Amino acid sequence: ALPFAITLDILKRRLPAHLQEPKIGIVCGSGLSTLASALRDVVEVPYSELEGFGTSTVQGHKSSLAFGLLGPGNGIPVVAMLGRFHPYEGHKLSTVVYPIRVLARLGVRNLIITNAAGSLNPKLPVGTIVAIQDHVAIPNMAGPLNPLLGPSLGPEYPRFLPLSNAHSIKLRRLAFLAAHKLGLADDALAEGVYAWVSGPTYETPAEGRFLRAAGADVVGMSTIPEVLAAREEGLEVIVLSLVTNFVVIPDKYRSIKEEVKAELAGKPIEQPPQQVVSHQEVLNVGKQKADVMKDLVAKIIEMIPTD
Ligand code: 6GU
Repeated sequence: ALPFAITLDILKRRLPAHLQEPKIGIVCGSGLSTLASALRDVVEVPYSELEGFGTSTVQGHKSSLAFGLLGPGNGIPVVAMLGRFHPYEGHKLSTVVYPIRVLARLGVRNLIITNAAGSLNPKLPVGTIVAIQDHVAIPNMAGPLNPLLGPSLGPEYPRFLPLSNAHSIKLRRLAFLAAHKLGLADDALAEGVYAWVSGPTYETPAEGRFLRAAGADVVGMSTIPEVLAAREEGLEVIVLSLVTNFVVIPDKYRSIKEEVKAELAGKPIEQPPQQVVSHQEVLNVGKQKADVMKDLVAKIIEMIPTD
């Protein structure tokens, strides 16, 4: 059984009363943990102190829950996950989504998930923030991975969760209104479809073409397990992906056969250097755009009706 009672008890003892019931949750992806700097009265609880939480091992990720107040006036209580768990770290999917279920039990009703993603769409250049409108979990590339596999958590959980409405229209509307209020350029916030793959390898060019053909605009290794668990818990969810790099999809392969033949004929063909994605590149763009993402998330939160 999952140790909800223990985790919730630890949090209750660590938090002042006014931070104990956050209504909005944020998941901060690679390089986006500076979101915590927008919070007031912050209390950070390291994952290592929390029963049921794993430890996130990815460079550029923190490992704590940050509770605090955001927005004008007294502010509203929010909780931010600084760092998340991924299946590629060896975590079970139930561990990956455990924090989401804890957030739901604290009273969180709206969840804003951020991540870094690779672009498959030339209209979504590096630096674009993409409000995800739908997703595809790629069989074989994500494997038979679904955090909702296995026994149901209880009779109140639907066995066959519908996903035609996984990405909240209400929150996406707020995102575009928030971008307008912030005076962001029209192309700073776009919309698109997220392909979830397991990683930790980046895509081969053939896989990149495959994902593009599958209707995806961006690709990443996180987020969708959390979306599924959040939907199962009844939360409204918005995913904001920051494009940190392009997936390398050359129009055609260089022909090594032709190159060798030309070389043997004494007429070698010059080749441009090969492009490769690097995690450092991903982190750098995350850093550069963290402030825009932070402003956008803060503005969306301000606009979420509190009841
Ligand atoms: Cl290019 N691929 C995947 N799978 N995840 C990424 C990425 C690419 N860039 C950032 N995250």
